[in-house]
Amino acid sequence: MADYDIKNESLAEGGRRRIEWAAREMPVLNQIKERFEKEKPLKGIRMSACLHVTAETANLMRTLHAGGADVVLVASNPLSTQDDVAASLVLNDEVPVYAIKGEDNATYYRHIESALRHKPQITMDDGADLVSTIHKSHRDLLSGILGGTEETTTGVIRLRAMAKDGALMFPVIAVNDAMTKHFFDNRYGTGQSTLDGIIRATNMLIAGKVFVVAGYGWCGRGLAQKARGMGANVIVTEVDALKALEAVMDGFRVMPMMEAAKVGDIFCTVTGDLNVIDGHHFEVMKDGAIVANSGHFNCELNIPALEKLSTEKKLVRPFVDQYILKDGRSIHILGEGRLINLASAEGHPASVMDMSFANQALAAEYMIKNHAKLEKKVYSVPEEIDLEIAALKLKAMGIACDTLTEEQENYLNSWEEGT
Ligand code: ADE
Repeated sequence: MADYDIKNESLAEGGRRRIEWAAREMPVLNQIKERFEKEKPLKGIRMSACLHVTAETANLMRTLHAGGADVVLVASNPLSTQDDVAASLVLNDEVPVYAIKGEDNATYYRHIESALRHKPQITMDDGADLVSTIHKSHRDLLSGILGGTEETTTGVIRLRAMAKDGALMFPVIAVNDAMTKHFFDNRYGTGQSTLDGIIRATNMLIAGKVFVVAGYGWCGRGLAQKARGMGANVIVTEVDALKALEAVMDGFRVMPMMEAAKVGDIFCTVTGDLNVIDGHHFEVMKDGAIVANSGHFNCELNIPALEKLSTEKKLVRPFVDQYILKDGRSIHILGEGRLINLASAEGHPASVMDMSFANQALAAEYMIKNHAKLEKKVYSVPEEIDLEIAALKLKAMGIACDTLTEEQENYLNSWEEGT
């Protein structure tokens, strides 16, 4: 067995129970695991996964392992690791893990190096840190890589930028772009788990609060909808006129961040961009404002600018840093500005990760079978895989839907018929 780096081996039993609890809500992935156990489509393939180390990810690791893969796992964020899950994967499932909740940046990158020491043939990323590190400083590995998969919007944006520059040296499948991923994980998963994270960190009532959601992509849509469902008065900020219009028609107030900053009680960024809440926004916030981020990287809040405006910073509750401004007002940053749904809560519920990770497992299988035909580009998950996952999920939920009659199918395929 290879080496590993986890917090504490004695946590493994609790981790195992958590992994099994999640598995109950992951019927699609479980079916794939059963097939993988028989067919071994990943036999002997070295895989390095850089994902949030959660109970749901553990079920993906068990599936890849069942398929015959030689897989190692490292954290895709310093604050998202569930240490008990990491211990269980190492002790009970023979998956080497390099991840410790709260690890510093140096340890985070040392763990990425451990994943690369494995000499992956397939990379599995959430945020593109493996792909980017390989291209920047481990180009010797490129010749052995068949391809990669990418979980999240931010990672896909980075990869498309690489492909556009002609810098991407192997094919990558954008799992995020599958409909069975972003319609559900980004919308319902982020919506619920972000509120869960904010509530666990603060224990504040959401009803009656002015809740500012920055960004109206799939994550922002989900978050705005769920915050409204809990009785918040929701404001959306956007840079895209179409999305801003959609938010207005969905019944939300839309305004520039500079205006929202003056009236918000709770702020959450879900844009994937830089300094969305900046120094000049912090300057006008109300005393006691709560500010969080649920986007992939911690750059959405300009915390260095807030530090410059402040005379003091103290941890007032786990995951709540209180900054005192020069005029005595306080601003609270949750989870050091890292994705709050994983920092102070447990990430998306297993039921949505079931579809996201079914896409990951099937995308890896597809990549192994088809890499020779693929170019150095970012690919979508093939539509048949996406539709198969939707059908399996619906079936597992015990829900049937209609099928077209022959007559209807002919009608849809004809152009002659009118009124
Ligand atoms: N991203 C968001 N939620 C997650 C979870 N529960 N597991 C892994 N990655 C996630």
